[in-house]
Parts: sequence; structure tokens; C-alpha cells
Amino acid sequence: MPSLTLDSALDTFSQRFATSARYSREGSESIPGGYSRSSFNFGPHAIFVERGEGARIETVDGHSMLDLNNNFTVNVLGHDHPAIREALLAAIPSGISFGNPGLLEGRLAEILIERVPSVERVQFSCSATESCMSAIRVARGFTGRTRYAKFEGGYHGFSDVLHISSHAGPDDDCGSDTDPKPVPDSGGIPANDVANVVMLPQNDWESCERILRANAADLACLILELQSGAGGLVALDRDFVARLRELTSELGILLIFDETISLRAGYHGAQGLYGVTPDLTVMGKMIGGGMPLGALGGSAEVMGALESGAVSISGTHHGHKLALAAGIACMETMDRAAFDRLNACAGRVMSEVNGWAASRGVPFAVYGAGYSHLSYGYFTGPEREARSHRDYWRLVDGERTQTISLELANRGIFPVHRGEFSLSLPMSDDDISEIVATFTGVVADLAG
Ligand SMILES: Cc1ncc(COP(=O)(O)O)c(C=O)c1O
Repeated sequence: MPSLTLDSALDTFSQRFATSARYSREGSESIPGGYSRSSFNFGPHAIFVERGEGARIETVDGHSMLDLNNNFTVNVLGHDHPAIREALLAAIPSGISFGNPGLLEGRLAEILIERVPSVERVQFSCSATESCMSAIRVARGFTGRTRYAKFEGGYHGFSDVLHISSHAGPDDDCGSDTDPKPVPDSGGIPANDVANVVMLPQNDWESCERILRANAADLACLILELQSGAGGLVALDRDFVARLRELTSELGILLIFDETISLRAGYHGAQGLYGVTPDLTVMGKMIGGGMPLGALGGSAEVMGALESGAVSISGTHHGHKLALAAGIACMETMDRAAFDRLNACAGRVMSEVNGWAASRGVPFAVYGAGYSHLSYGYFTGPEREARSHRDYWRLVDGERTQTISLELANRGIFPVHRGEFSLSLPMSDDDISEIVATFTGVVADLAG
């Protein structure tokens, strides 16, 4: 009999995080839901944090936790990294906000151009949501076409234009496996925005080719994550992506990689590992070193639409000085050795946890495309990896995976609640051992 169930995990959670529960309740008197991001929800409520240092956070409930959430992959250097602290402290005294450009913007642009193969020009914003919106606008302006294509399970921010079929579930009216239909991820998204989206199934070449050819005349672009995050972690096959590159070029559809998360895959981003070059790339999360920053990069030709005035994009805080300062410090610290270290740690977690699960016949796995943004699931059958968003619904036991997330938090490890985590550079070999031991301990108690 399992000693761990959803009810027992919830009981322990409510005892351990009672102060956080109180802050949530009190917060909801002034903020809908108690805080401004619904993604803070961790089961019944968010865990409130007092401070972070290195790989750990301290909660208001008095617990020190190994941070495997890392603000949803942002904090690749963990918390209070000296390089970022010094960069911010050095930038503040000369003023923080101007109606003029400064010198930091060009420096971060140079770093991204040097590293990311598709990027010859860059425009900064405050978030990846904004840069994804910009990408669609640039693509529409450049091609003169209106609709765009995306994958079911791909998340590209919360704008009306893009918050579509990222979280579609079995109860939604979302069409068949081979002909998915777009569904809005929120109330308040106009039907026009939904109608402008052409949905594609991940890793299903025949369906994708048929759908893209049938809609090509209207399609400005295809936006994709090489490894999706929010929709259950699904990595696109390299050959599949290479064929999409060829087909979109043939059909005059711009190809956009949303590397908001996957830029942490390696020194040249995930596109460097895939060896496929898109027309536009969206970046975010780690590039701001913990400050709010998004970026759109691409070929000089396509990004030229912004220079010619054909497409106009400008926001008051775009390319904010402090975000640029922190971003430069983060990217400079993330040299090749740093990416190698993170990816080696991720490989260790995967092989040790999965080796343990296989040796005991427990249907649990940690998986991903081999870099430090990973997923975990308790599976309903023999397959141990979701190949598409819909595979994820079918293969992953939602209740058991949720139980594991709650219990990891109860035992001092803070992942993303839906079954996802990322590593940070300050994690030591002992921290990695702690991660492995906690996962295997929790899953053993769940499996019984
Ligand atoms: C792939 C991807 N694109 C875009 C976004 C939007 O980023 P932000 O919430 O920083 O605007 C996210 C956020 O999780 C993401 O994972």
C-alpha cells in the first residue's frame, strides 16, 4: 500500500505552508486570487518567499527549499548571483529610466547576435509575451498575410493573439489528433483572434505538411517551441524541424522559434543543437538575468521591416537599463563551461532517477531534450515520454504527478507544480544528489 496519497500530501502541505495560506487569503482582499500571477499557484495556493540565495529559497513559513522552479527557468544563475548584483548596483547611481537610448542595449544585442545563429538584428521589449506579439506583427507586416500557425501545447505568452490552444485539454472542443482546432486559453479572447490561428500536431509530419500546404496563401508564419514547456514537455524531432524549415521556405511562411526557455539549452540556444535556422527568434527569461526583458531577433532582411517603418513597435520600458545590465551579466557568466555544467547535472538527474525507476518497474520518469529544463511524470502505461501534447494527456497520470509535486515541496524541493523543473548553476553535486534522493523517495512512497 502506498504511504503517500494526494490527500496525505495535501494535509502535510497545509500544515507546512500555513503562513503562506494566510498570506494568500489576506492578499485576495486586494488582489484577485491573492497575487498577480496565476502561475504562482502551487496546488491549493502559492508558497510565499522571503529571500533567495544561490540555489535555495526561504519561505515565509520558515523552510529552506532547493529552488527547482527558478522563476519558471529565468534564474539560470540562481539567486543573488554576485555578477548580477554588482551589475545592478553599478547601473543604479547613473539613473534608471530615460527617454534616450544608452550603451548597454548594443552590448546585449552583440552577445545575442554572436551566440544565436539566426540573429543578425535584435529588438528588446519587457517580456517574451511582448516579443512574441512583435514577432507575429513583424511576420504579418513582412509577408502581407494575416493568419499564423502554431502547435497545440505551444505557449507563446498571454496576449489575445497567442494565448490559444496552449493548454487545450481532452474536454475542449479541439478537433481530432490529425486536425486540431484552435481553442482560446482564456475568456475574453475575441473569436477573430482564434480564427486567425491554424493548429498543428507536434511530430506528425504528414498532418503538418497537409495543413500548411492547404493554408499557405494566408499564413504569415509558423511559431514553435523546439521543446514545449507549459503544455507538457514535448521535444520536436530534429528531422521534423528540418523539414518544417524546408517547407516554410518553399511556401513563403516565416519560421519563428520561440526560444524563451530553450535558449538555456546551450551556448547557441536550442537552434544551435538542432542545426536549423529560423527567420525570427523570440528570447526571454534568462536573457534578463532575473529582470523583465524580452527580445525579438532575426535576419537583417526580416527585421528590416522595423527599420523601414513598415512595422512599428515601441514601448516605454522596452530595453530597460537595469534589465539590460542584469542581462549582460547573466549572459557573460553563462559561458560554454556553464552550459556544459548545467547540462551534465541534468543528465545525472535523468539517468539516476530513471535508472532507479526502471530497476524497480515504477512507471515514473524525468525527461526532456537533454538540457536543464526537464519534465517528470507518473505514467499510465509503458511509454515514458510524451511525443505530442495529446500524448501528454493520455500517458501522464495527472493526479499522481500532482501528488509528487506537492510532496517534493513538502520535502524541501520546489518544482513547477505541473511536473516540470530546471536547474541553476550554483547547484552543487550534493544538491543534485539531494534532488535524486528526494525524487526517488517520494516516488517510492507513492508507488508503495
Ligand atoms: C516559450 C514561452 N514563450 C513565451 C512566454 C511568455 O513569457 P513571459 O511570461 O515572460 O511574457 C513563456 C513563458 O512562460 C514561454 O515559456
